[in-house]
Amino acid sequence: MITQNVNLKNYNTFGISISSKEFAPFFSISDIQSILEHKKSEEMLVLGGGSNLLFTKDFDGIVLKNELKGIEIQEEGQDHVVVKCSSGESWHEFVISMTEANYGGIENLSLIPGSVGASPMQNIGAYGVEIKDVFESLEAYHIATGEIHTFNKFDCAFGYRESVFKRKLKNQYIILSVTFRLTKGGKVNSSYGAIEAELAKMNVSSPTIIDISRAVISIRTSKLPDPKKLGNAGSFFKNPVIAKSLLEKIQMNYPDTPHYPADADHVKIAAGWLIEKCGWKGKSKGNCGVHALQALVLVNYGGSTGKEIFDLSTEIIRDVKHNFGIELEREVNII
Ligand code: EPU
Repeated sequence: MITQNVNLKNYNTFGISISSKEFAPFFSISDIQSILEHKKSEEMLVLGGGSNLLFTKDFDGIVLKNELKGIEIQEEGQDHVVVKCSSGESWHEFVISMTEANYGGIENLSLIPGSVGASPMQNIGAYGVEIKDVFESLEAYHIATGEIHTFNKFDCAFGYRESVFKRKLKNQYIILSVTFRLTKGGKVNSSYGAIEAELAKMNVSSPTIIDISRAVISIRTSKLPDPKKLGNAGSFFKNPVIAKSLLEKIQMNYPDTPHYPADADHVKIAAGWLIEKCGWKGKSKGNCGVHALQALVLVNYGGSTGKEIFDLSTEIIRDVKHNFGIELEREVNII
């Protein structure tokens, strides 16, 4: 059913109060067909958890709210399991149900907000794991033809917080389900420094999948604001990839600059660190600001407009460019 002029405050984790001209939830493929047939608007936005976007103005189109639900084991072997999950399921709830069943591979991605359908869209990642590491395939509804197409890993063209659905095929598909290949047998990935430190704090020497999930939840809750209490969309910027020669220049003043390998001539540098060094960490401007515990996260202290948050991000980009010669790129979708 399509409703008119719906406020989206409760549908985006930044908690921005804007209105959408049309709004329709879909619970099935036939709902999608019927909505596309009856909608009046040209512009369209498919919304999952609303955790990676910033509304800067009222939306003059139709929002399709994904309510597709269901998890199905498709194949089970001695050391692996193939699981198909509908795109409207909550990502974190899916992780917890897989982790509790002792199916491994996504425990490092615990507590990432958003829906399962959004996970391949931006190849979500944390603590040494990305979706692409466990991705098998996905099914998507082709808006122009009404056909259902299957995409394998290659088709998705995954990159760092990137996929074909954010680029070449943007707004052309509605992701219906994602299929993952998970492991049985308890193999874990605990090599990320922060996880090792957290496990030591927990006194765990041979971690299980559940231990890793608990460690990740503990790290994330200690640094990242809970969107239910403080509006935010996780990392607002990407960690920029820069030339090694530029890193060496920065290291002359800051020998401890946090960075990770990218390719032979480039490194990824921590955007949160750059922002902190520009003096923005914990600073507020009007009703929004930079989180006090992780400068990569912008927050809405209540009543902020999307435009205010966008303008704050522009000031940050300007300062980082001025001080370090690095152009930060927004990770959050600006609408
Ligand atoms: N740092 C600072 N100051 C800050 C924030 C970070 O100096 O205010 C330093 C930290 O001390 C550390 C380094 O920067 O040395 C990296 O920090 P952290 O491990 O917190 O990770 P990140 O690079 O800031 C990325 C992802 C997060 C993910 C973490 C953990 C991006 C854009 N962000 O953040 O993803 O949880 O790694 O793997 O790649 C998200 O995408 O929404 C997100 C939260």
